[in-house]
Amino acid sequence: MKIIVEKTYERMCRMAANILSAQIILKADSVLGLATGSTPCGIYKQLIDWYNKGDVDFSKVRTVNLDEYVGLAPEHDQSYRYYMDQNLFDHVNIDKANTHVPNGLAKDAQAECLRYDKLIQSLGGTDVQLLGIGLNGHIGFNEPSDVFDTGTHCVDLTESTIEANSRFFEREEDVPRQAITMGIKTIMQAKKIVLAINGEKKREIAKNALYGPVTPLCPASVLQLHPDVTVVLDEAAAGL
Ligand code: GLP
Repeated sequence: MKIIVEKTYERMCRMAANILSAQIILKADSVLGLATGSTPCGIYKQLIDWYNKGDVDFSKVRTVNLDEYVGLAPEHDQSYRYYMDQNLFDHVNIDKANTHVPNGLAKDAQAECLRYDKLIQSLGGTDVQLLGIGLNGHIGFNEPSDVFDTGTHCVDLTESTIEANSRFFEREEDVPRQAITMGIKTIMQAKKIVLAINGEKKREIAKNALYGPVTPLCPASVLQLHPDVTVVLDEAAAGL
């Protein structure tokens, strides 16, 4: 694991964006695994800025997102498809047909999960997977559990995640109770992983995930076993 500590959130985002853009420069049709939440917002802003300056070209890039809420339509302002359009896709020259997010409205969630894993395989796998971390150590929506979940699957969100994500919804009751998420196996199959962690609130979970035991009780701890992970933290999360 390579651990990089940057002074501020903005610098942390720049570092993470650097890794993603270097990947695109090296391989124009890279498959980027993308994440949502508040952490990556600044990373996407930086990429848009470089795109506007002519430094990054998204025309051949393919993307696969980690997860989506069950029951939210793509146009719902809290769906992860909407988030990706608003925060990145609508501002760069990416072909929307090359951007993939699980379908939260799929009638058969099981079939949707299988379709999504097959899709990732058919794209040749993920070149770089960007991750944030939940306060309980979740990655994607892989919540703490007794086992590491394997492929893309449907999950029941924990109370802690529902509460944490309620800040984006009008009322806590509006937060969906389920999500479709890439599994730990899907995530671990990415050739390269970038984990971004910011803010004092994440300090304790960052320490557990990076230095604690590898256990499904802290899903992000599995990343210790991946051969190519870069963790970028701001000083607040690193506790410096
Ligand atoms: C959500 C997403 C995760 C994200 C996490 C942390 O639950 N499914 O992919 O990493 O939130 O979000 P934030 O960056 O807002 O703390």
